[in-house]
Amino acid sequence: MNLLRSRDAAEAAGACGARILHLLEETISASGVARIAISGGSSPRPMFQKFSAAPFDWNRVQLFWVDERGVPPDDAQSNFRFAKETWLAPGHFPEKNIHRIHAELEPHEAARLYTQEVSDVFALPPGDLPRFDVIHLGMGPDGHTASLFPGEPLIENRRSIVSATLVEKLKQWRITLLPGVLLAARHTAMLITGADKADALKSVLDGRYDPKQFPAQVVMRHAEGLDVFLDQAASAEID
Ligand code: 6PG
Repeated sequence: MNLLRSRDAAEAAGACGARILHLLEETISASGVARIAISGGSSPRPMFQKFSAAPFDWNRVQLFWVDERGVPPDDAQSNFRFAKETWLAPGHFPEKNIHRIHAELEPHEAARLYTQEVSDVFALPPGDLPRFDVIHLGMGPDGHTASLFPGEPLIENRRSIVSATLVEKLKQWRITLLPGVLLAARHTAMLITGADKADALKSVLDGRYDPKQFPAQVVMRHAEGLDVFLDQAASAEID
């Protein structure tokens, strides 16, 4: 795991974005196509804005989401809407390469459809997991990542691709990629910024391994090819 510290959130997001663009370019040069899954939240805003202005051939990129809230795509909480407004529309990302989660549907149907779409695009044999070239993740103040929140039994799931989960504390359905897929990624770029993440980051990195309490530990303790981009505020409690 590489920990890369920046002065502030914008600088960390810029560094994370530069790393992701480099990984995408490298992948496209080697294989002609790159498949990436992005997260939502608010931290990625400067990174998505960087992508929208980048002179990059998005035609070679297949875009997926790590997770989505159980809302329509035009809802203010939608991760798809957030990416569309900050990156995909201004960046003229080709619609045919956008694989959004249809989380406006009944949650289990949405999870089934997304599983099918991922399986189709990756041409997966039955039972195989997709190996994303790049997965972008964030971390919440409670140590969640993707939509794997503390206490979520799905943190043990290494076999399936996608699941619907009712996030009790938010009273909200979410659709999320599962840990087996997160760990199968060739490269993972985590962007963690803000003082409200400092306590959780200390527990995730230095605390007892307890992924049910701190789901981000699954990725931060086990993922290969992991770069973690931090600002000073989030890294205040780690050495
Ligand atoms: C979501 C995200 C989630 C996010 C973290 C951090 O749907 O909210 O996928 O996992 O990455 O909650 O969010 P912030 O960037 O807003 O701190």
